[in-house]
Amino acid sequence: MTATSRTIPDDVQRRCANLRAEIERHSRLYYVEAAPEISDFEFDALLRELQDLEKAHPGLITPDSPTQRVGGAALTEFETVRHEVPMLSIDNTYNADELRAFDERVRRGLEAGDAPRYVAELKMDGVAISLRYERGAYVRAATRGDGEQGDNVTENVRTIRSLPMRLGGNPPDVLEVRGEVYMRHQELQRLNQLREEAGEPPLANPRNTTAGTLKLLDPRQVAQRKIDIVFYDVAPIEGVELTSHWETLAKLRSCGLPTSSHSVQCPTIDDVLRVCNEWESRRATLDFEIDGMVIKVDSAAQRRRLGATSKSPRWVIAYKFPAQVARTLLRSITVQVGKTGTLTPVAELEPVHLAGTVVKRATLHNFEELARKDVREGDTVEIQKAGEIIPQVLRHVPELRPGKAKEFPLPSACTECGGEVRKDPEGVYLRCLNVACPAQIKGRLEHWRGAWRRTRRRCTT
Ligand code: IVH
Repeated sequence: MTATSRTIPDDVQRRCANLRAEIERHSRLYYVEAAPEISDFEFDALLRELQDLEKAHPGLITPDSPTQRVGGAALTEFETVRHEVPMLSIDNTYNADELRAFDERVRRGLEAGDAPRYVAELKMDGVAISLRYERGAYVRAATRGDGEQGDNVTENVRTIRSLPMRLGGNPPDVLEVRGEVYMRHQELQRLNQLREEAGEPPLANPRNTTAGTLKLLDPRQVAQRKIDIVFYDVAPIEGVELTSHWETLAKLRSCGLPTSSHSVQCPTIDDVLRVCNEWESRRATLDFEIDGMVIKVDSAAQRRRLGATSKSPRWVIAYKFPAQVARTLLRSITVQVGKTGTLTPVAELEPVHLAGTVVKRATLHNFEELARKDVREGDTVEIQKAGEIIPQVLRHVPELRPGKAKEFPLPSACTECGGEVRKDPEGVYLRCLNVACPAQIKGRLEHWRGAWRRTRRRCTT
């Protein structure tokens, strides 16, 4: 018996232990099994009772208590952690042929007749992380860093509600698990609403926000942002023989660690391709960002036989979705007046990489399209390169719309000269009727200068 526990009544100590176990069990039912048994209200009541007991008896507080997720003391810098087992990267493929070539390489690396089975998983667009549990208790979290060593972000990761502080099931003495920390669209939207109210610039995307959140030195700030975690790997465990990836996922779940419910076993590469195509078209239905799929050989024995290059294992590959579409923030809508007086709405964007270039502006074509797509300033929009050069706004992401976003008004006068505007007979284009409009004159001059140059080139060659 410790000095502190001697002064705390037995029944209080027992109640505390029971409450912690109950809270962990309900967290797991809620986050991992998606089968809650009690309401949020009842859950909060349990948490509050534990908080009150710990307040009355501070000697009872343990680092793995669920009350400690609110964030501990701030750090001045992150300590460096060397990964016992390096966190390797994975090779990428971009189309069906490359994925089939991966399958052929795998088959060549295995004994004749030893056909591989695969597991296809969502490629979460977040931040890779490695966690350590000792005797079932959460002790450390480290970012991937360069694969050899990363930052010790234990206190920040502790604030993740879906992360168990104590493992259930029958965990080994030491368990090192790997996964991805990510942020849901809904949470980014909530944070951006708060930032908007505070007059701060919005956060552009969930991945950068997750990375930035993990790098905050004050865990109390981290606790105010809701980040999530999903696990997909276990570092080799002494004395524990996991024979397949599928079994590894089951083991993670049995310990109470959240795993993706979208992972599937695929008997052949054709099944893998089908799953990849399906998610490529359905990715927008998810509440979080994915940038592709990860395809893994299921059998542990086959993985051992295939081994790794210095860079990445031969039993895993990423299938990246075409990056032709990017999401970014629409800062404002401006109006351009062309040489014939046509008013074109233009999206002024938070700069974003798209298919090899940085895009800052995109066309919204005309006011009819703008109204049809219902794109507003402050929206997160998806942009696509049409005809390779001029990007266009495909759509806005409804769940990321700030509360205050207003419909962009149809200009009642020319935005350049203030002249009268009228819709064309088809009702699609809005035109400035002032032939002396400076924007139109400039447009006409530019047009004729271009035409003159083209003619001269043709004459001289
Ligand atoms: S497996 C050795 N599975 O993608 C294999 N990685 O581009 C370890 N990622 O660094 C990785 N979802 O951060 C794996 N279901 C998934 C994943 C996944 C996202 C990330 C991970 C990795 C990166 C490689």
